[in-house]
Amino acid sequence: MNILNIKNLTFGYKNNGSHNLIIQDLSLKLDKNELISIVGGSGCGKSTLIKILAGIENEYDGTILSASKAYMPQKDVLFPWRTILENILLPLEIKKEDSIQGKRQAISYLKKFQLDDYIDKYPQELSGGMRQRVSFIRTLLTDSEILLLDEPFSALDAITREDLQRWLLENIRFFNKSMIFITHDIDEALFLSDRVLVCKNKPLNNFAEFQISKKYDAVKLLEIKTEILSIIKGEKL
Ligand SMILES: Nc1ncnc2c1ncn2[C@@H]1O[C@H](COP(=O)(O)OP(=O)(O)O)[C@@H](O)[C@H]1O
Ligand SMILES: [Mg+2]
Repeated sequence: MNILNIKNLTFGYKNNGSHNLIIQDLSLKLDKNELISIVGGSGCGKSTLIKILAGIENEYDGTILSASKAYMPQKDVLFPWRTILENILLPLEIKKEDSIQGKRQAISYLKKFQLDDYIDKYPQELSGGMRQRVSFIRTLLTDSEILLLDEPFSALDAITREDLQRWLLENIRFFNKSMIFITHDIDEALFLSDRVLVCKNKPLNNFAEFQISKKYDAVKLLEIKTEILSIIKGEKL
């Protein structure tokens, strides 16, 4: 079952009269519970696509049919003057859905993720990895079906990043979500996804697609990685 259906999406940025076309006639479907990653060279339009899906950019052509979505940007956007709990409750507050029940659920999530000691702490008292976990919990609490994650781990050190990749995968399965994950780390994409999409051309109008089976061994994965790299480098279009 499709949970997201993008048809003939076209989008450009308008700068002082000129029109910079970023996405042209792009179509894409996401299945329920499917996890996809998008990789591609810097500037190929990955963040633009996710911002359109998140509703941040909305002057596009084409159609987007979609279940509810929650967006988590690259940098954690926790407010330094709010405690962890207050930060987590923010989206509910904005939607005027903050209630005793919402607060209870936030606290139960923090417990599940072993962050309950930090409920009344401020973001600057937490490590980078913990802050990303808090941002992720906040994204989960919005109860959206599709998570849109734009390079959420790129600022973290390698060990924390691997920890969080495993943690993300476990939780995304546990909470029954679908995901679009943007990264420039091909190994991360191969580890996290059922399908990897590689930006092929500019403006973005098509992806090279790789279905990833959990049964693939290291040799097969390396083969795919090499092919993805050659597409990104423009050797294979
Ligand atoms: N707000 C903006 N206004 C004008 N141009 C933008 C804006 N945001 C991004 N761009 C341009 O759009 C192109 C794609 O950017 P982006 O989607 O951020 O790429 P990626 O995330 O794949 O690195 C880039 O050339 C970038 O300069
Ligand atoms: Mg980007």
